[in-house]
Amino acid sequence: MNLSGNTILITGGSTGIGLEMAKQFTALKNKVIVTGRNLDKLKKATEVIPGLHTIQSDAGNPEHVKTLLKRITTEFPDTNIIINNAGIMWTINLQKHDFSFEKLTTEIDINLKGPIYMTEAFLSHLKGKSSAAIVNVSSGLAYVPLPISPVYCAAKAALHSYTQSLRAQLVNTKVQVFELLPPATETELLHSFDPNDSKGIPIMKTDKMVGKFIKGLSNDTLEILPGQASMLKFMSRFLPNFIFGQMSKSVSNMHSKG
Ligand SMILES: NC(=O)c1ccc[n+]([C@@H]2O[C@H](COP(=O)([O-])OP(=O)(O)OC[C@H]3O[C@@H](n4cnc5c(N)ncnc54)[C@H](OP(=O)(O)O)[C@@H]3O)[C@@H](O)[C@H]2O)c1
Repeated sequence: MNLSGNTILITGGSTGIGLEMAKQFTALKNKVIVTGRNLDKLKKATEVIPGLHTIQSDAGNPEHVKTLLKRITTEFPDTNIIINNAGIMWTINLQKHDFSFEKLTTEIDINLKGPIYMTEAFLSHLKGKSSAAIVNVSSGLAYVPLPISPVYCAAKAALHSYTQSLRAQLVNTKVQVFELLPPATETELLHSFDPNDSKGIPIMKTDKMVGKFIKGLSNDTLEILPGQASMLKFMSRFLPNFIFGQMSKSVSNMHSKG
């Protein structure tokens, strides 16, 4: 797809991958709007990227998504690309029972329900454009779970499946459906992890990862798998037990902490 002259809405764009996407898309002469929950982080993003538009909105809250649709269609009616990037990732010890039911499923609200709400809300608007796209940001972990983050991986695997179905259903429209499956990427998301859990895993620089994403979009690559993400897909097909065993190693570190 043509990657200049678009109006692009990125959920969760105040830091990390979303912020870097905003930077690179702005440099390519697109208008970019990012969302996030925290106003201070959004303000800092505008200091990094002059001309960036921000809207405070929680991607996992259906009422916020409805309000976002109203604001976007009023203030930025040219919006033709939606990037469902907002996401959180937690380590959860399923034997500990220290999360409430509600907290235990927050990753599903943001990482899975969020993109589903956004698609439902914005699809009619996108269908009215001559060129449009929905990009869902899942993860290489959609192919092989990291068992210390069980709910996150379940949500990303489900998002991968949903994205495939969405693409098939929109085949008779002008709305292209892309999926970005990042590998481990150097952002705040990884900061809460014990460094022992990511020992030996290459961590990709955010600008490089986003560069590969933009290249994939421009080539109309529908499933974009930068770096180690493509290895995870390959291993999940040809050496599934081996790769799952590797990914399960950090469980013993979790158990040793009690
Ligand atoms: N980094 C990796 O290794 C990696 C690997 C694979 C996939 N991913 C995926 O890439 C996406 C971006 O992650 P990242 O690594 O860039 O993480 P990050 O640096 O922590 O950034 C996450 C962004 O999402 C926002 N956000 C979180 N929850 C939100 C919500 N409910 N509504 C709106 N915004 C929300 C955050 O701002 P607020 O906190 O202010 O809301 C922040 O702007 C996520 O979907 C993640 O799962 C990351």
